[in-house]
Amino acid sequence: MEFAESQFRCMACETLLVIDPVQAQVLTKFFKGLPPIICSKCDDEAKRGREDADRQQRVAESLRQWADLVPADEDTDPEKLPDTASWVRIHNHDFQQGQGVLLHGRTRAGKSRMGWLLLKAAARQALTIEAATAYGFGRELAIRFRDNKDAHGYVRRLERAGVLLLDDLDKLCPTSRAETELFGLVEERVSHRRPTIVTTNQNAEGLVKQFERKELGAAIISRLRENCATVFCTPREAKK
Ligand SMILES: Nc1ncnc2c1ncn2[C@@H]1O[C@H](COP(=O)(O)OP(=O)(O)O)[C@@H](O)[C@H]1O
Ligand SMILES: [Mg+2]
Ligand SMILES: [Zn+2]
Repeated sequence: MEFAESQFRCMACETLLVIDPVQAQVLTKFFKGLPPIICSKCDDEAKRGREDADRQQRVAESLRQWADLVPADEDTDPEKLPDTASWVRIHNHDFQQGQGVLLHGRTRAGKSRMGWLLLKAAARQALTIEAATAYGFGRELAIRFRDNKDAHGYVRRLERAGVLLLDDLDKLCPTSRAETELFGLVEERVSHRRPTIVTTNQNAEGLVKQFERKELGAAIISRLRENCATVFCTPREAKK
């Protein structure tokens, strides 16, 4: 069977395609008739469609992870945050740039709530997420080391997350192991430009003070500050 060039159409959009006669012959022979060809425009579209579907799946997975991680009572309404001005400033934070957010302010300023909202925004940006409080991080490590339960796997998971929420950095139990592992975690994340969301009641000086090894503490804090946009959280208006 022979087909004229004009009979070759994109199977998706039916645009006529000009094909080299020799190639056309090979194709018709191989497919025993009209070959199922697709134009480059439709091919690109299909590829984009697949990429969109992949992205949607990643978003859905990250949002599921967020729902698993978030404390049950974190039903935050952005309008009710004590510092709405700060939230307005950071709610569009683009994590793709590799920069994290350091939320600093006194207790009950809404830092953790904003941290969780930011983590959700990261999930919507199709990034993988993890979360830990500094206290929980130390405790989890201690238990895993004690029970020989893959402490490195745990740290590795936090190291590799697209975005990590590290809540209450000022409440780390300063054991030598927790400090060392925290340094490794922060170093690994910052050097790969993986953003971290940090909340703290203390300023840099206060944070360093809580570490047993002050130099290590200073290294951790300076790396985080370099990698993060700092936001001071202060309630500006009395909320009902
Ligand atoms: N549903 C809500 N949505 C948003 N903010 C809330 C809600 N309920 C309480 N808050 C505010 O959240 C604050 C505590 O937020 P939180 O993130 O725990 O603070 P921080 O981590 O800075 O100590 C309270 O002071 C309260 O004003
Ligand atoms: Mg908090
Ligand atoms: Zn086409």
